[in-house]
Amino acid sequence: MILDSMLSGMPRPARRKVEEALDNIGVVLQMRNPKVFASMAPSALRGLLLKEGKRKDVVQMHSSHPVTFDTRYKMDFPEMNKLYRRAVANQWDGDKDLDWKTNVDPMNPELPILSNDFVPDYELDKLPVKLTRQQRTELNYNIACWMLSQFMHGEQGALYASAQVTESVQWLEGKFFGGTQVMDEARHLEVFNRYLTTKLNKVYQINDNLFVILDDLLTDARWDFKFLGMQIMVEGLALGAFRTMHNMSQEPLLKNLLKYVIRDEARHVHYGVLALKTHFTQELSDQERREREDWAFEVAVLMRNRFMAHEIYEEWFEGMISRQHWNDIVLNSPAMTKFRHTMFERLIPNLDYIGLMTPRIRPHYERFGMLDFIKGKNASQLSEQDMVADLH
Ligand SMILES: [Fe+2]
Ligand SMILES: [Fe+2]
Repeated sequence: MILDSMLSGMPRPARRKVEEALDNIGVVLQMRNPKVFASMAPSALRGLLLKEGKRKDVVQMHSSHPVTFDTRYKMDFPEMNKLYRRAVANQWDGDKDLDWKTNVDPMNPELPILSNDFVPDYELDKLPVKLTRQQRTELNYNIACWMLSQFMHGEQGALYASAQVTESVQWLEGKFFGGTQVMDEARHLEVFNRYLTTKLNKVYQINDNLFVILDDLLTDARWDFKFLGMQIMVEGLALGAFRTMHNMSQEPLLKNLLKYVIRDEARHVHYGVLALKTHFTQELSDQERREREDWAFEVAVLMRNRFMAHEIYEEWFEGMISRQHWNDIVLNSPAMTKFRHTMFERLIPNLDYIGLMTPRIRPHYERFGMLDFIKGKNASQLSEQDMVADLH
């Protein structure tokens, strides 16, 4: 509140810079573990301060992960092989299996592309300027474009990360599965891009925090960090976001597209937990495992409250309300509450399954109310069908 009144006297451009800087410092201060902070600092510098994801159309990211070339061709991971067979059997065609002739009108109130749950009406009613009904629909349309744009950027990151993981992973069946995931991610990138550019006609730039996470994963040379970050954390985040969006939308093409993508993503997380359980519980020293434990916790906290749609704030509400006020609206909105719930009810059992929820780290998750989910099913217990069974 004090900060709000101090900032309100400033000219708008200066105020925007100060608010943004304070917000970004907030991200850094939230990270309490110096080792995790040091490992993420170069990506944070590129994403939050230099704004590389926004300033440049083409960003070069450099990675020096090892490529594991194995001429023994040993097949000794039957569960992974089963998952690979399932992935081959469930391939789909982004062009033929979706009805692209569907007429999508994001301004049609009969088939809203998103519900009002991301920025609820009771919050809009408190603002000094009232939105017309038309503006309200347009706001939802813009939020949908923003979300889908972030999905698209995330899928591009997933495409490269899965290719890198395929190179690094040590099991032959893991390389087989990795190949199917690369195809899946390419198809996801294809369908999100097609939906955005041919149906919604509006694309947003990559969110700074998403850029930081992707840059960190793609440039980290340690394959299991890539794996943990992409297959467990980011895929878990994506599954939560896709499910929330699916249930908030009534537009049939988008709902169908998301359902197809969710089935694939369920397999990707399953792949992650299979590979990492073996690696973390059998191959790492206690100290190495602790490092992964800390990293996963910091990333979980980052993901919990760093996707605030500031691009929408800047377009619609800057100058009307403070950035902090906007953060409060979004963080407490029904959509974000649902999203966090959906994300953590999958993520926490997965972290437990792979051995990263030891008594040492649990109290930290408890502080954020994330431990309540620990008894849920992990990805190895859930099929593609289970993942879409309760969608509505
Ligand atoms: Fe994907
Ligand atoms: Fe994926």
